[in-house]
Amino acid sequence: MDKEFEFLVEEILRAKHVSGEGLRRVLECSDGEEEILFAAAREVAERYFSKEIYLRGLIEFTSYCKNDCFYCGIRRGNGKAERYRLTEEEILSCCESGEALGFRTFVLQGGEDPYFKDDRICSIVSAIRERHPHCAVTLSIGERSCESYRRFFEAGAERYLLRHETADEAHYRRLHPAEMSLENRKKCLYDLKAIGFQVGCGIMVGTPYQTMEHIHEDIVFMLELEPHMIGIGPFIAHKDTPFGSEPDGSVKRTLRLLAVLRLLFPKVLLPATTALGTADPMGREKGILAGANVLMPNLSPPDVRGKYLLYDGKICTGEGAAECSSCLRQRVERIGYHVSDTRGDHPDFMKSSGE
Ligand code: 5AD
Ligand code: FES
Repeated sequence: MDKEFEFLVEEILRAKHVSGEGLRRVLECSDGEEEILFAAAREVAERYFSKEIYLRGLIEFTSYCKNDCFYCGIRRGNGKAERYRLTEEEILSCCESGEALGFRTFVLQGGEDPYFKDDRICSIVSAIRERHPHCAVTLSIGERSCESYRRFFEAGAERYLLRHETADEAHYRRLHPAEMSLENRKKCLYDLKAIGFQVGCGIMVGTPYQTMEHIHEDIVFMLELEPHMIGIGPFIAHKDTPFGSEPDGSVKRTLRLLAVLRLLFPKVLLPATTALGTADPMGREKGILAGANVLMPNLSPPDVRGKYLLYDGKICTGEGAAECSSCLRQRVERIGYHVSDTRGDHPDFMKSSGE
């Protein structure tokens, strides 16, 4: 086997840098080379996390969104999307069953829904923290002011997910309507970090017009931001969006990018996403075997699951929380990994778990 590829992989890990050319070489490697890449990524993940996988209970609490991103199924322009909001009681009841199922992190995700004003979010977050002091709360509710983020943090939210979607200005404009801006998105991420959140950014792989250079720009941006979490998954077309007939992103490329990210960010929390599991029935297992260490099963009540459809074909919309949790535990065990029963904070962020 050609030593050149092994050297490249080692060099990415050592230098914590990859050139545009190096990235292309890795993303376009042969299947044999891919094994070298994945093995290196697994080894790095094991160094910090052993074979532990963290579960996050995802609560999709509102499908209303004021934004109109061209790729997303719950964009406001999609008149066919069914809209719902969970009440505070319903959210708390998801957490109740979630903790019983062993979850120690709840991710509250929703569209950008003005109904959930800061006060409402703060009230939900502090109620969860009060009832589940050993659990972490992650918010994933889009762009807000720095002041709002500060209030969420004070209410007890410790983590925030906000994918940047693309770090390239021109590409960003092709994925979003004119009223949205990459500049503000980046500002939000830096604000969140400065406040003290564990912050997650990320992209979709294979969005329309995305080039290898864009992915390289994403990496450069991430190296600068130093996020604690990185969410990536393949783009999957949603039929009722402007990108409805665009081709889906490649699973292979997503897996290879996961591995590169693991080499560049050894301690990062890296989910094998639901989109990856949708694009390939074994996608989440393959993601873990390419260096991912987080899974985010759905905790949303069964009656709303089929309504939070960012893309077509989403898996687990017919399953309940208990089914998804036990299904994922089995899947993790089957590939020789183990589900952690801790909160799964970033290694640099180990706090007392409230005990
Ligand atoms: N395919 C894959 N992922 C999508 N997301 C939104 N729409 C799609 C799609 N069509 C991702 C975005 C967003 C996250 C919550 O879901 O990256 O940040
Ligand atoms: Fe939902 Fe397997 S994770 S059924």
